[in-house]
Amino acid sequence: MRESNKITIVGAGSARTPALVGSMIKLKDRFPLKKVIFYDIDDERTSKMESYIRLVLKNYMADTEVIFTTDPDEAYEDTDFVLCQMRVGKNEMRSYDEKIPLIHGLVGQETCGPGGFSYGMRSLGAMIEMVNQVRKHSKDTWILNYTNPAAIVAVGLDKVFPEDKRIVNLCDQPYSMMRSFAKILGVEQKDLRADYFGLNHFGWFTKIEDYNGRNYFHDLMDYFKNHDFKPYNAEQRSQSWLNTYLRVNKYLKYFDEYIPNTYLQYYFFPEEIVAESDPNYTRADEAKDSREKEVWEMCAKAEGATSLEGIEVVTNSVFGDLMIELAESIAYDLHKEFILLTKNTGIIPNFNSEAIIEVAGTFGKNGAEPFQYGDIKPFYKGLMEAQYAYELLTVEAYLEQDYTKALQALTLNRTIVNPEKAQAVLKDLIEANRDYWTLN
Ligand code: G6P
Ligand code: MN
Repeated sequence: MRESNKITIVGAGSARTPALVGSMIKLKDRFPLKKVIFYDIDDERTSKMESYIRLVLKNYMADTEVIFTTDPDEAYEDTDFVLCQMRVGKNEMRSYDEKIPLIHGLVGQETCGPGGFSYGMRSLGAMIEMVNQVRKHSKDTWILNYTNPAAIVAVGLDKVFPEDKRIVNLCDQPYSMMRSFAKILGVEQKDLRADYFGLNHFGWFTKIEDYNGRNYFHDLMDYFKNHDFKPYNAEQRSQSWLNTYLRVNKYLKYFDEYIPNTYLQYYFFPEEIVAESDPNYTRADEAKDSREKEVWEMCAKAEGATSLEGIEVVTNSVFGDLMIELAESIAYDLHKEFILLTKNTGIIPNFNSEAIIEVAGTFGKNGAEPFQYGDIKPFYKGLMEAQYAYELLTVEAYLEQDYTKALQALTLNRTIVNPEKAQAVLKDLIEANRDYWTLN
C-alpha cells in the first residue's frame, strides 16, 4: 500500500469539484488520501456541494478526513498538495471577459485575446497571495495550478517566485485532445504519447505514437482529411466546443504539418469566431446553464440523503484525472509522461530561454523533467515570439501597473493587432475590473 496523502482543493466552489472528487475515487488505490481539505474564500458555492461531496467520499473513502473551510491557515498548514482551480471574479467576471471584446468586434474568450488579458490580470494577484500563504506554512507543499489563464499565471509566478521549484502549472487541453486521438485510433490513452511544442493554449502536436514507437501521426492526419474531429465525449459537449474541434480540420487545410491545439482557432480564425458568437450569450452563460446547472441539481439530491442511491457519481473528468495522475507521479516518483508547462532554458534552443513553454516530459519527486525539443521553424517561432511578448507584457503591466505595457500587450495579440481597437477594449476592461486591478 502506498503512503497516503493530504491534499487541499483551492477554489473548491468550482462546479468542476465533483468531477475532481470522482477522479480521486477512481484513482484512490494509486493515490490514497488521508485528508482532503476543500477551501474557498467564501462558502456560497461550496455549501451547495458539501453534502454531496461528503456522502460520496464517505461511501468510497471512509477513512479519509474531509474538511471544508474558508480559512487559509486551516487550508495550508498541513497539506502535501495544493490543487488550485480558483476563478477570481467568478462566472460574473468571466462573462464580462467574453462579452466586452465582442462589443468591439474582437474574440470574446476567457483565456485568449482581450478576455484572457483581463482574466490574467485578475488571477495574478490572487495567485501570488496564495503562494505566499502556502509558503508561510511549508516550503515542501506542491502547488499544482489549474487556474487560468495558465500561460499568464505561469509567467507571472515564475517572475515573482523564480526559485520555487514546487509550483506546477497545468493545462488539460493537450491531455483532452490525446484522449480524443486515442478514441479515433482505437487505442488506450495510456499507451499513447506525443511530441508537442508551443506556449499554453498556443501549441502543436508534432508526433503521436505508442511507447513501442509505432507512429500514428499520419493515420491521424489522414483521418482528419475525411472526418470531422470530434472530442472523445462529443455527446456531452455544447455546440461551441464541437465547432472548436472542427476548426482543427479547417486549420489543417492550410497547414498540414502539425496538429494544432484547438485554442489556436482564436488566433487563426478570429473573424469567423466573432461572427459566430452572440455577445449576449457566451460560453460563461452556456457553462452556467449546462454543467453548472447539472452539478447543482445533482448535489441538491444529496441534501439529507444517507445513501448514494439515485445519485450520480461523476468520473471521467480529464482535468480531474490529470490533476490526480500528476500528483501521483510526483508523490511516488513515477516519471510518467505528460505534456507540461516549463521554463524553456534551452529546451527549444532558438526560442527565448525565459519563456514558459509547453512540451512533453515526465514528473517525478523533483518535479518536471521536460524532454529536449530542438529548434523550431520560422513560422511557429514568429507566432510564438509575438504571443510570448504579449504574455510577458501582460505580467509586467500587472506588476508595474503600467498602462503602456498593457496597450502593447493587447496590440501584439493576434486576435487584436489594431492599436485603436486595443485602446478601446482596454478602456472598457479597466472599467469592468476596477475592483481587481488598475493601470497608471
Ligand atoms: C479547456 C482548457 C481549460 C479551460 C476549459 C474551459 O479544458 O484547457 O484551460 O478552463 O477548457 O472549459 P469550459 O467548459 O469552462 O468553457
Ligand atoms: Mn487549459
